[in-house]
This record gives sequence, C-alpha cells and structure tokens, in this order.
Amino acid sequence: MEKLVSSWFTRPGNHVIPRCNTILVVDLSKALAHDRIAIAQQILKASQEFRFFQVVNHGVPENLVTDTMNVFKEFFELPAEDKVSVYSNNLKRPCRLYTSSSNYDHENVHLWRDNLRHPCHPLEDCIKIWPQKPTRYREIVATYSIEAKKLGLRILELLSEGLGLGSGFFGDKLSESSLLSVNHYPPCPDPSLTLGVSRHCDPNLLTILHQGDEYGLQVFKDGEWIGVEPLHNAFVVNIGHQLQIISNNKLKSAEHRAVTNSRVARTTAAFFINPSDDCVIEPDKSLIDTNESPAYRPFQFKEFLLNYSSLMGNPEKCLEPFELHA
Ligand code: OGA
Ligand code: NI
Repeated sequence: MEKLVSSWFTRPGNHVIPRCNTILVVDLSKALAHDRIAIAQQILKASQEFRFFQVVNHGVPENLVTDTMNVFKEFFELPAEDKVSVYSNNLKRPCRLYTSSSNYDHENVHLWRDNLRHPCHPLEDCIKIWPQKPTRYREIVATYSIEAKKLGLRILELLSEGLGLGSGFFGDKLSESSLLSVNHYPPCPDPSLTLGVSRHCDPNLLTILHQGDEYGLQVFKDGEWIGVEPLHNAFVVNIGHQLQIISNNKLKSAEHRAVTNSRVARTTAAFFINPSDDCVIEPDKSLIDTNESPAYRPFQFKEFLLNYSSLMGNPEKCLEPFELHA
C-alpha cells in the first residue's frame, strides 16, 4: 500500500512542517542561585506539557562539545576500511555501526542514516571497545560522556525537586548506565521519500541530545509535527519511557523523529541516561495519587529493552506489555 502513488501525500517531506523556536530554553546557570525553585518548576512544566526542552549555560564546555561533534563527523568520513571493524548487524554487540534501524532486513522503508552506538558505563571497561579511529576518539568522547552524564544528573535532580521527591531520587541504579547514540544523516537526494529516524520515544530515562547546527528534529505535539530549530550551544532534553512509567504518567515520553535534507550532512549525538539492566522499574509510590492505582507492573529494565527492540520502538505498542488496567 505504501507504494501507491495516491498514498504519497502522507510522506514526510510533502508536508510543510511549522518550525518552532519557542520550545522552552532553560538557563541552567540560574539553577545554581536563588532561582533554583523556579527553574525546577519550569523544567517540570516543560516536561509535562511539551516533553521536550532545551538547556543553555549547561556547564559542558563549548570547545569540548565542538571537538566531540567534530570527532563524530570525522568518524563517519573515515574510509570504509577504517569502520569495518565496528560495523555489525548483531544487536548483541555493544559497540556497533549500522545503517537505518536495528531491523534492516525486515523494515518496509530504509532510513537515511548511519548510527554508531556504544555504552559509556563503566567507562574504564567500555572505552576499550569504542572506535580506535579517529585516534582522539576515545579521549574526547570519554570526557564528553562524563560531562553529559553530569548534566543529565543535574537535570534529573531538578526534576525530582520539581516533583517534590527527595534529593538523589533518580540516582543510583535508576540512572547508572549510559549509552551514546551518534546519528549521521548524509544529504538525501529526495527527503520526501524517507526519514532519518522514524517516530519513536526514547526507551531510556532521559535523553541529552546535541543536534548540531542543522535542522532535522521534529516533535509530535497536540496532533501535529513541530520542527525544533537548532539553538547554538544548547542541548535538547527529552523525557524517555522510563520516566513516564516511574512517574505513573505524570511525565510523558516525547514522540519525535528526524527528517533529512538534500543540502548538507547532519550529525547528532544522543546521550541516553539509562537504568542499569537489572534495575526494577515501577511507578514510585510517592507519585501515585491517592485516587490512582499504579499504571504499570514492575519489570527489569532489560526486559523493556528486549521488548522495545522487537517492536522497533513502536510508540503505541511498547508500553502495552507493562500496563496494568484498573
Ligand atoms: C535519537 C533521536 C534525533 C535527531 O537518536 O533517538 O531521536 O535529531 N535523534 O537525530
Ligand atoms: Ni530519539
């Protein structure tokens, strides 16, 4: 059916998508001072309504971000023989480069992207499996992953204050792991025919995305797609499925996708803050109102991930096996 010409109007590139530079920008330097309570409330409100926000004055040095994004671009520009050792379609390989989605052989339409992903925790162990080229990859990305994690924890701390939870609520196992997912979208001859990344919510707790200076990210809000205009030296933050579950739907995971363009390559880096594999996820008692019951059953995070990848991240289906119906 997808092949019918009469269905083409549904294709992503044939729509005019409004671009939005009104997505909330939070100045994190203010969270250090007397404005902290107001900033925590701002972040909470943005997480509840928009599910996305951006942060500036975030404490990650600008030159580190520039070096990291450059080293990612250099990685994708390497000749094929330098990338072959990390290229793999085996989902069990923790550090791998692949094309389109993790389900290349069974997807209807291939995506216009290459993706490099690897864990970042525990750093001393996983750095050994990261790409060896470009030669400065490991050193720069290690520093970046430490800073991105720090930033993620600061934001989680503000969120927990906003929710009225104790300090350190999202610490320990809930935010122990991290994964770096680097997307590379070469210029696409016809962006109307496919996407860079199809619609999904991230399976994690929280995502800290650096989308570079090229547009491509779109968020689904109130029944329509809205483009997120890049803001220089800002990070885009979005709520993942686990935060939705833990908060018993007080926070909602953000549905988003990426479109391509025909002019320039776009490289983005998504830093996923994840629970540890064996961490038990369930709605926290303090976030279940007295007139509510838990909306999800307890499960181990690794169970969620397995299910997520078998459903290819389908946002309608991937919470279903964990839902409880009152
Ligand atoms: C992701 C993602 C968006 C982008 O990697 O999960 O949603 O703009 N990326 O690359
Ligand atoms: Ni995503």
